[in-house]
Amino acid sequence: MVDTQVDWMGAIRARHSVRSYTARPIEKEKVAALQAQIDRCNREGGLHIQLVTEEPKAFDGMMAHYGKFSGVRNYLALIGPKGESLEEKLGYYGEQLVLYAQALGLNTCWVALTFSKGKVPAAIDKGEKLVCVITLGYGEGQGTAHKSKAAGAVSETTGDVPEWFRRGMEAAMLAPTAVNQQKYLIELKGDRLSARATGGFYAKVDLGIVKYHFEVGAGIGHDRWTTSE
Ligand SMILES: Cc1cc2nc3c(=O)[nH]c(=O)nc-3n(C[C@H](O)[C@H](O)[C@H](O)COP(=O)(O)O)c2cc1C
Repeated sequence: MVDTQVDWMGAIRARHSVRSYTARPIEKEKVAALQAQIDRCNREGGLHIQLVTEEPKAFDGMMAHYGKFSGVRNYLALIGPKGESLEEKLGYYGEQLVLYAQALGLNTCWVALTFSKGKVPAAIDKGEKLVCVITLGYGEGQGTAHKSKAAGAVSETTGDVPEWFRRGMEAAMLAPTAVNQQKYLIELKGDRLSARATGGFYAKVDLGIVKYHFEVGAGIGHDRWTTSE
């Protein structure tokens, strides 16, 4: 169950990646609220996502500076059991945590490359993998809107386009993707709704993120997707 008090669409519109953070710590109540959402995601998704607070080492090195990160001391370590569906699942649940953090007044950024993976002090159990992290905190600014492909470039429909699909695409286009690649295709053929990655770096994580945005915008559940070809 997701928190019904959260304005998820408002969070989708307000969110942009933020890479510079102030020294303001995340308040205890917000940490507790985030932890409750992390617990829910881990339960629902069979994941091992962990919150790391007041720990700057993974963002102290050359990689983070190269990636233009500064002041990062809080992040989510996206971890789960290795397997075919891990990346998409972490995208799907990780983005719920991103939007929840946004609703709490925090800023975020997905990070796959520009951090020191070996310095993340999280528990990675046997058979598990750390796929990427999400920075958290009070940003120096609120970020800026990314350039976007046209909805028609990442979707295909037959017949009239229903209003719910149009709204779903509007939310999907606002989703963060690795290097802003937007390499996915959402199709509506008759009643059959499907989505797939069309290649690219971390495209399966992107796909999970995009599907969650689409569900929020369209007002549909996760079971609405057709998974087999
Ligand atoms: C899976 C994934 C991995 C990412 N990895 C990095 C990264 O390593 N370094 C970085 O600076 N930004 C990273 N980003 C952030 C993207 O560059 C950013 O989301 C994209 O440019 C769109 O901008 P927006 O998030 O402000 O809408 C990543 C985003 C995603 C979804």
